[in-house]
Amino acid sequence: MNERIERSGGCLRIWERHPGRECRPPFESQPTHSSPTGRSLPVTPTRSPQGPEVPAATPVRPPLKLGPLQLGPLTLESPVLAAPIAGFTDLVFRSIVREHGGCGLIFTEMVSAGGWIVGNIPPERLRGVAEEERPLGVQLWDREPAMVEEAARRLVDLGVSLIDLNFGCPKKRIMGKQGAGAKLMRDPSSVGRMVEATVRGAGSVPVTAKMRLGPSCDSLTAPAVALAAESAGAVAVTVHGRTAKDSYAVQVNFDRLAEVVNTVSIPVIANGDIDGPLAAINMFERTGAAGVMVARAALSRPWIFRDIALALRGEPVPPPPTLAEQRAQLLRHHGRLVTAQGDPWGTVLMRKFACRYLSGVPGAREFRAAISRAADAKDFRAIVDALFPADAPEFAEATADGSPVITNQPALEETCGG
Ligand SMILES: Cc1cc2nc3c(=O)[nH]c(=O)nc-3n(C[C@H](O)[C@H](O)[C@H](O)COP(=O)(O)O)c2cc1C
Repeated sequence: MNERIERSGGCLRIWERHPGRECRPPFESQPTHSSPTGRSLPVTPTRSPQGPEVPAATPVRPPLKLGPLQLGPLTLESPVLAAPIAGFTDLVFRSIVREHGGCGLIFTEMVSAGGWIVGNIPPERLRGVAEEERPLGVQLWDREPAMVEEAARRLVDLGVSLIDLNFGCPKKRIMGKQGAGAKLMRDPSSVGRMVEATVRGAGSVPVTAKMRLGPSCDSLTAPAVALAAESAGAVAVTVHGRTAKDSYAVQVNFDRLAEVVNTVSIPVIANGDIDGPLAAINMFERTGAAGVMVARAALSRPWIFRDIALALRGEPVPPPPTLAEQRAQLLRHHGRLVTAQGDPWGTVLMRKFACRYLSGVPGAREFRAAISRAADAKDFRAIVDALFPADAPEFAEATADGSPVITNQPALEETCGG
């Protein structure tokens, strides 16, 4: 579900966009509007560079009655989690998400347990983990219980807050050759053995499992796999509401997610297509999940966790950052990657993030084409300055109409995930 905002007769209309269906306006926001209980609710003013304040993008709604999200011994301040995303959720990206706030728990990219144990070299994906702020979750993948058990022991030594196991990766390389990821969902007992071994290695550190609805639509094993994980000692499960065979074009199945929620006693974190506060509230309401997890939308809007957390508490959601602020964030992100990885490697790594920032605005296509060839830091800065100068007129236009600036994202292929 996408959220689109239009100006209409002095108020903002919020539309929910459902793939394959006409847009429909579920409600309209007014400077003040009524809750279902008839209560008058305030609306956050939006900064407008050119005129009077306009209402905020997301109207205030009554808070959802959610308790703190308890994952075994770990209490999360927010039930909104940041997903593991291979190729993206590195130390620098995680630092940016943390700065915006609202994220209860953030994960590393998935780490190969066997690769670490057999090779005996700390994976690049664990760079910075020892010193990083907490809470922090590390995700492991493998098919051998002995590997995840030993990797879990090493993660305990690194002082991580939580260890997650990947049972959702749909990639051939992981499912086929390695017999891991979503392949393991074909046999719930093998998931149980993996979780049991990880719990043994993890000691008092909580263990969770991330999965899909099943390997395919004729094998929807998530309830059985979640039960096996629970019996083996997992403190929660995350479920992406699609099967391993589904593309992102297939709609998330809320009923199947709810079925998992009703099957286990541990918290279920629901995942899939959450791109803003309305989608998150919809996910909670339709599945009864205890938490939600966001992946792709966070790559272009790392402040999404803050927005969702505020909306869940019934507090006003601030307007999206102006383009000038997004430009500053893009440059900050690039600067940190170059500091961490050197140049030109930091710039090369930044290209994929840059393509997602500043998208959906005039000139974004041209910007993406140019930035994806940026050779080094100097080149990168020159492209940003040329195509998104801080004082460009479109900056004012794009923010003055109050529309969210992130639309028409470049397609993001799942390089390796769940
Ligand atoms: C590029 C990419 C990489 C991913 N890497 C991982 C991963 O390492 N581990 C994992 O469990 N899921 C991974 N995923 C899946 C996401 O965590 C998430 O389950 C999925 O994208 C649905 O959430 P979304 O609709 O909010 O994007 C990846 C997804 C993408 C697009």
